[in-house]
Amino acid sequence: MTDPLLSVEDLKTHFHTDDGTVYAVDSVSFDVNPGETVAIVGESGSGKTVTSESITKILDMPPGEIVEGTITFDGMDLTEMSEKQLQDIRGNRISHIFQNPQNGLNPVYKVGRQIGETLRIHRDDLPKAEIRDRVIDLLDRTGIPEASSRVDDYPHEFSGGMKQRVLIAMALACDSDLLIADEPTTALDVTIQAQILQLLEDVQAEYNMSILFVTHDLGVVSEIADRVVVMYAGKVMEKGSVEEVIHNPAHPYTKALIECLPGRGSSMKRIDGALPSVTEPPEGCRFNSRCEHAVSDCSMGDQPQMHAIDGSQTHRASCVYYGPGYDAADLEPPTENSSTSQSERRSNSQSERRSETQRDTRADGGHDA
Ligand SMILES: Nc1ncnc2c1ncn2[C@@H]1O[C@H](COP(=O)(O)OP(=O)(O)OP(=O)(O)O)[C@@H](O)[C@H]1O
Ligand SMILES: [Mg+2]
Repeated sequence: MTDPLLSVEDLKTHFHTDDGTVYAVDSVSFDVNPGETVAIVGESGSGKTVTSESITKILDMPPGEIVEGTITFDGMDLTEMSEKQLQDIRGNRISHIFQNPQNGLNPVYKVGRQIGETLRIHRDDLPKAEIRDRVIDLLDRTGIPEASSRVDDYPHEFSGGMKQRVLIAMALACDSDLLIADEPTTALDVTIQAQILQLLEDVQAEYNMSILFVTHDLGVVSEIADRVVVMYAGKVMEKGSVEEVIHNPAHPYTKALIECLPGRGSSMKRIDGALPSVTEPPEGCRFNSRCEHAVSDCSMGDQPQMHAIDGSQTHRASCVYYGPGYDAADLEPPTENSSTSQSERRSNSQSERRSETQRDTRADGGHDA
């Protein structure tokens, strides 16, 4: 097996604000292999952007701080690198399409010139005479109509969606090893979205590029990704191949997200409740207050550990139901009458187990076995 191109291990990115510490990303781990697309998915505020912007340490400055974790890219530990070394990595080896590209384009230069400049820097194998054609091709492939004339427009002559596509074209012109794309198609209409996803796939195949694709849209995930990381309130709830996570979801949160997809079930569903505070995160599983299967163990200690699902090497979920003493079959949708009694049963049996453990612990002086 080849080594991952990117390996994020136990990443913690916090913000120190007047209202306290924001635990935006708290012990997040995942890998991206060469040539594959990994999607980070989750509701608004779950920590997707903070995770993706921590990779090249853009967020590692006040009020943000990467407090723990390692980020290994092509064998190098980015957390140990100087700002100068990181600048070299950004754009050259890792390109980024930002969710909110405020100043991505220079207003005084023509759009084509800006993409051409990026191509000149990153593709020194490309003959000068071919640069303009390549720029027009990139604009055309991102769905800019009449690309051969629009190439000479200034950014203010483009709509917001068109500027977003120019930024996508610029990121692709970098010919980097890893593209981080944070909601690149969210603001675009569905036809253009499909075109951009196709373009990303084409460029990926052409250059064996890896993509970290950030989105809140599970529908897009199944179209573009090989593997998926499901985040909730700064924690990873589940990860695995798209086949595993979308077709055999394990965590109640992932199951709920999938139920919310249009076209599932008889009516449009939603997940009741709201994301918990990430300034004062709840004990136990961060999803517990909205989980219809929550039992007393779900609100104790830290986020449950990641358990392997069905013996898979890749599919894992952070839910007590996959740990000892539980049966994941109990996560099947409860019937009207059984839900309360099932929780009560669980809660009672867990308290009984705890009292037994306490009795045992007292009996052996409190030492671990
Ligand atoms: N500069 C900052 N200062 C304080 N808190 C921040 C800052 N940036 C992000 N956060 C907080 O970190 C948490 C995660 O934010 P993030 O932007 O990563 O969410 P997201 O999953 O990308 O959401 P969306 O889908 O809306 O883009 C949120 O609670 C957010 O308020
Ligand atoms: Mg975001």
